[in-house]
Amino acid sequence: MDSRSFQPHHCVRRWPEGAVVYQIYPRSFQDSNGDGIGDLIGIRQRLNYLEALGVSAIWISPFYPSPMVDFGYDVSDYCNVDPIFGTLDDFRMLLAEVQGRGMRLIIDFVPNHTSVEHEWFKVSASSLDNEYADWYIWKDPHPDSSPEKPSPPNNWLDALTGRSAWEWNTVRKQYYLHSFHKAQPDLNWKNREVRRAMHDAMRFWLDLGVDGFRIDAVYWLAKDPSFRDDPLNPEYVEGIHSFYDRLQHTNSSGWPALYAYLAEMAEILADDAYRKRQPFMITEAYPDQHNPVEAYMAFYEGVNPEVAAPFNFEGLSLPWQAASWRDFLRSFHDALADQDPCCLASYAFGNHDKPRIASRFGDTIARSAAVMQLTLPGMICMYYGEELGMTNGGIPPHKVRDPGAIGEPGTIGRDPMRTPMQWTTETFTGFSTTAPWLPVTATSSTRNVQVESGDEKSFLSLYTHLIKLRKTYPCLSYGTITVLDTQYSDILAYLRTFEDRSCLVVINFGPKEISCDFPFTLDQELASSISVMPASNPANAVVVLAPYESKVFVVSPK
Ligand code: GLC
Ligand code: CA
Repeated sequence: MDSRSFQPHHCVRRWPEGAVVYQIYPRSFQDSNGDGIGDLIGIRQRLNYLEALGVSAIWISPFYPSPMVDFGYDVSDYCNVDPIFGTLDDFRMLLAEVQGRGMRLIIDFVPNHTSVEHEWFKVSASSLDNEYADWYIWKDPHPDSSPEKPSPPNNWLDALTGRSAWEWNTVRKQYYLHSFHKAQPDLNWKNREVRRAMHDAMRFWLDLGVDGFRIDAVYWLAKDPSFRDDPLNPEYVEGIHSFYDRLQHTNSSGWPALYAYLAEMAEILADDAYRKRQPFMITEAYPDQHNPVEAYMAFYEGVNPEVAAPFNFEGLSLPWQAASWRDFLRSFHDALADQDPCCLASYAFGNHDKPRIASRFGDTIARSAAVMQLTLPGMICMYYGEELGMTNGGIPPHKVRDPGAIGEPGTIGRDPMRTPMQWTTETFTGFSTTAPWLPVTATSSTRNVQVESGDEKSFLSLYTHLIKLRKTYPCLSYGTITVLDTQYSDILAYLRTFEDRSCLVVINFGPKEISCDFPFTLDQELASSISVMPASNPANAVVVLAPYESKVFVVSPK
């Protein structure tokens, strides 16, 4: 390929390009006042750590005022901070300090639903005729039901508990829709006033100086306007899948208007008032696994890619197999390159809703996954504790807090991935001076920042090294990706190229040692998932990988 003629597009100079975004679940990162719950001052106390780790940005999960039924994803005021987490001034100070250190700060934005405690809902629910009457999705009972025994208007399910998504209101004598918990009524996005109010909330935070948003649960913003039933899911297996999976959610979510709603939000970010700071938004939507590339492309096509990208969740769902990744990376990055030079990939391999990587894959593969994630194009979103190899915590039944697990007994829910950050070998891991809101994990005495920073082969050393490489080598942050053909079925190899420099990433997905050669000169070995720093520079053109190992090289044409 003739990469010399390549002229970097202006989008390459956006901050998200090549960025490493660190997701903080604020309840669980650092408690500053001894109540067992993390807070904004706590985050500020740990900025030295994040700066040393080398991350470019922080995304903080919701800290808005909230009754905390879904731990902040039930918002009762979009323009303030919950006292549990601190004050708006604490937020201002945090933002100033993050940006003062050259990092960016993005916040979670939850447009699909409010809390039942939000003033808008309280008024909306109080009568059939009020200023906010049409701000939520109210429906009469099913026409076949009797007035004494009303039944829900359709079969839609709540994604948190898998029960009916409709809740009866005795004042309006109507049902309201809640695509998540019944404490999270869906806003009516068809209503322009609602959209305007949400845009104002975005402006409020942009005016304070935030660098963008992670936009929650966007598929639910638009549903079938005639509220038809969702079809049954033919692949549902009782006892294996969650209740929610009984149906396919093709009418209750994912209708095309959602792209128009997101495009309106993107316009705000692209507004002259803010565009100099390049605010950016990442949208949360888990694609239909039958054709994820198509699902991702719908966002790039529908929402200005200069200021927005959908999360790429393949790291959470694709099997750890060379062939799956080869196929996916080729088709996805070809589609992106075809679409628009501003389209930015945004890879997350973990978050506060999904099992942790180290628990899904085991340590050896989790380390290889780190090499892969941190050498992929675009923006990388890592979840707090991933850099320590944190595992899912064991949550005894009486300590379960997640509304999903409470609503669907027997499921593990999301508490295991939300346990306190592991800082030290102390009883409460340096997270708090009292028992934290969720118990610390069993491995916290060895997997913590204190122990791992003194071990040059630890997860923490691996992540720190990889993040540094990503920053040092423009090909790793800005380069194009070319997936190579190899004769080894368990090997995934790709080149990242920017101007005249290329890095080669080779990943062994199999349980056997493999020696493979490539049509390049290996100039320098940069990293190994096992030994972190290479023992020596390569003497010849053969790449030798231990089982499940991955390596990164600087290469040049032979
Ligand atoms: C998103 C959040 C999840 C929350 C849900 C409802 O999926 O990541 O934690 O429960 O939306 O807001
Ligand atoms: Ca606290």
